[in-house]
Amino acid sequence: MPYNRREFISFLGKAGLGALTIPPFLISCGNTATPTSDKKLSDEQLKKLKDLVFEGLSPSNQDDLLLAKGLDYQMVIKWGDKISDKDTFGFNPDFTCFIPLDERNPKDGLLWVNHEYANPFFVADFNNHANPPEKRTKEQVDKEIYNVGGSIVRIKEEHGVWKVVNNDPHNRRITGHTPIPLNWDAPIEGKSEIIGTNSNCSGGITPWNTFLTCEENYQDVFGDTLYDENNAATRTPSIWGWEQFYDYPPEHYGWVVEVNPKDGKAQKHIALGRFAHECCTLYELEDKRVVAYSGDDKKDEHLYKFISSKPGSLKEGTLYVADTINGKWLALDWENEPVLKNKFKDQTEVLVRAREAAKLLGATPLNRPEDIEIDPITGNIFVTLTNNKPKGDYHGSILKVEETEGKFDALTFKASTYLAGGKKNGFSCPDNLAFDLSGNLWMTSDMSGDAMNRKGKPYMPFKNNSLFVIPRYGKDAGKVIRMASAPRDAELTGPWFSPDGKTLFLSVQHPGEQTTDKNNPTSKWPFDKDGIPKPAVVAITGDLIEKLNNLNQIEV
Ligand code: FEO
Ligand code: CA
Ligand code: CA
Ligand code: CA
Repeated sequence: MPYNRREFISFLGKAGLGALTIPPFLISCGNTATPTSDKKLSDEQLKKLKDLVFEGLSPSNQDDLLLAKGLDYQMVIKWGDKISDKDTFGFNPDFTCFIPLDERNPKDGLLWVNHEYANPFFVADFNNHANPPEKRTKEQVDKEIYNVGGSIVRIKEEHGVWKVVNNDPHNRRITGHTPIPLNWDAPIEGKSEIIGTNSNCSGGITPWNTFLTCEENYQDVFGDTLYDENNAATRTPSIWGWEQFYDYPPEHYGWVVEVNPKDGKAQKHIALGRFAHECCTLYELEDKRVVAYSGDDKKDEHLYKFISSKPGSLKEGTLYVADTINGKWLALDWENEPVLKNKFKDQTEVLVRAREAAKLLGATPLNRPEDIEIDPITGNIFVTLTNNKPKGDYHGSILKVEETEGKFDALTFKASTYLAGGKKNGFSCPDNLAFDLSGNLWMTSDMSGDAMNRKGKPYMPFKNNSLFVIPRYGKDAGKVIRMASAPRDAELTGPWFSPDGKTLFLSVQHPGEQTTDKNNPTSKWPFDKDGIPKPAVVAITGDLIEKLNNLNQIEV
């Protein structure tokens, strides 16, 4: 049952309203996730938290990035901007992650940005709406491949303005053409180093301060390999047809990729399984082993967690999948699971075909698990389930997972619906989540462009995709309050707080995506002279964010 407001407040009360726990490794990087120590708020701080007012926006279909009172934004970087003499910022930003170069200075650091996919209409001048369909060239596909992956850019805040340090030696692109080694002993489809990363949706950060970028809808660019009941394989075609020019195996994609901010070196973590990874959220145990949560954003797919057997390893350990009905984590362990041994030839094949292995074990199908965050106060794990239209779930929900005794390496848990999407709660299709330093939960929505603002569709009342906050304290605790409204066709993605909590980085992905005529785009945001919509990353600051931050002058 979803929580109502009263229950939400009492649920918060369980941990004691005066206790604020902040994870040491994440506070240094600006995001909260891992509860490791209790810090009491003073009565005065608590009163300020309770008195804080969030004045929300009404739903809007205006073609602009609208912000609630107390918030301002500035453009940090947009598609096509030069980051160095040889590279430009890629298309469709999603996950963002900021790591300061020096922990003592939260205003100077490296920003990682995922580039999820490249709309060929804008990036390669390929009209995918043409009738009869046009054929695309290798040159066009190369442009698309360059515009996906990720960017590392050094950014600095001076006099309240965030700026990219152009040509900083750290600035670089990882693209669909970058060679990347596999962190695994066995080759995959004959290779131990593969070409490129793509479909980079959300991600995460490691306790050792590296970026994690997650390969989600890889099947859209190189297709997939499907197996029938006799275990016979068929290669399916992709939507974007890159395989017509580059015959890369689909098995080389669908992984969690780790990127070192300092030198850009990347590796793919096979032990975390292959599926449409939305994100990867890490928790570091006391003995330095890590637990990694990740959802498979596809209808009726699953929620996974990896528990390492060695400190700081994303290779040695066991991958589990959730049976949310019985509250059990089921091991994808070829050696000890006869049902897996009968079907697959070894553990590598189990990881490559994780979805099939999960189903054989009895994993629970979920309604598109997307982002995952760990509540910094209670340690509960929140998972957005965006929707499952064929099952009649149009608006999605947020799932709450409570590990047994609060132990992240537990093999049992309790799952319940924390908040359901829909008219009553004022949001639909939850996607990204982020906790601020006061423990308020921020959330973005992802209604698809072809359904938003369409008469007769269930998404009409919600208008444009938005950013919401669910306050933790005060009279509005547990309410869903709209804090930003996206430009037309866009989705707001990748919310990430700077280490001092004073900036919220946010991506504006795919404005004007439904455009079929460049002379008449459905969005013109950010209103450049050329009139072409451009996906971008913005920095949200302002009085409200300052107030949230000032409430947290506590020692950690
Ligand atoms: Fe790329 Fe699941 O959103
Ligand atoms: Ca997403
Ligand atoms: Ca997140
Ligand atoms: Ca999504």
